Amino acid sequence: MVINIKEEKPKYGWYVRDLMLYFFLLGFTGLILFISGFYIRNIIGIILGVIGFLIILIFLWPAIGLSTMQIALINKINTIDVIGKDFVINKLENPLILDIGCGTGRAAIKIAKELKNGGHLYGIDIYEKMAISGNSLYTVQNNAKIEGVEEKTTFLYGSATKIPFEDDYFDMINISSVLHEIHNSEGKEKALKEIYRVLKKGGYAYISEWNRNSWQLISTLGIFCFVFKNKNYWQILIEKTGFKTISYQNQSGFGLFIVKK
Ligand SMILES: C[S@@+](CC[C@H](N)C(=O)[O-])C[C@H]1O[C@@H](n2cnc3c(N)ncnc32)[C@H](O)[C@@H]1O
Repeated sequence: MVINIKEEKPKYGWYVRDLMLYFFLLGFTGLILFISGFYIRNIIGIILGVIGFLIILIFLWPAIGLSTMQIALINKINTIDVIGKDFVINKLENPLILDIGCGTGRAAIKIAKELKNGGHLYGIDIYEKMAISGNSLYTVQNNAKIEGVEEKTTFLYGSATKIPFEDDYFDMINISSVLHEIHNSEGKEKALKEIYRVLKKGGYAYISEWNRNSWQLISTLGIFCFVFKNKNYWQILIEKTGFKTISYQNQSGFGLFIVKK
């Protein structure tokens, strides 16, 4: 008898899955109203058509954009792909790395896989479900186990605004697509101050955030791109904290700031 044991695969989750679903449902309602507007040849038809068109613009466009981004981009955009595998981490002996808002470990696990000179990667998150389905401490720990980096990683509950580590602890910190989820500028500033505090002097932070002025974001999210801040906003906030910007790279709507303490 042949027993077919299925290999367990890591689950990195669908980003903004629920949001996409609601937007599609609303968007299709708009489409129905818009089409109905053509058949009802009076003032009500015109009103329905206009309302339908607006709903399409507001919901269907971002729903399609988010889905194509999920399929085409999200899994490809990654700090580690952009910075090159040995930019900082493998120039150091036993580097200590922190990934803030690690989620299911999409970036954290890739970084951990690149550790060649010893070292350890810590990941913290508050594991909110809105952006990623299946987001939990268990998921990221299990993903690390499946990917063979369990020994080199530790994942914990922890907030960017109150990082549970001592001052000057890490050689490198990665925070990818997290700051925009922290409410108001004070909260974002508090998180950046915390990153500065726990980073060693001379250490690098990789901060990636959406840039609403990029055509990629506008074409993907439609009017919702205004929910996000632009590159200037982030640069001012980052440098106000005391970081020195080493470089900035545009990655399909994300802006990656490489900064130094
Ligand atoms: C869009 S996901 C990005 C996840 C991961 N960094 C990546 O690139 O795949 C945002 C993550 O930030 C987390 N998050 C939101 N606010 C946070 C906070 N104050 N502290 C830590 N994590 C936070 C969410 O739980 C979620 O896992």
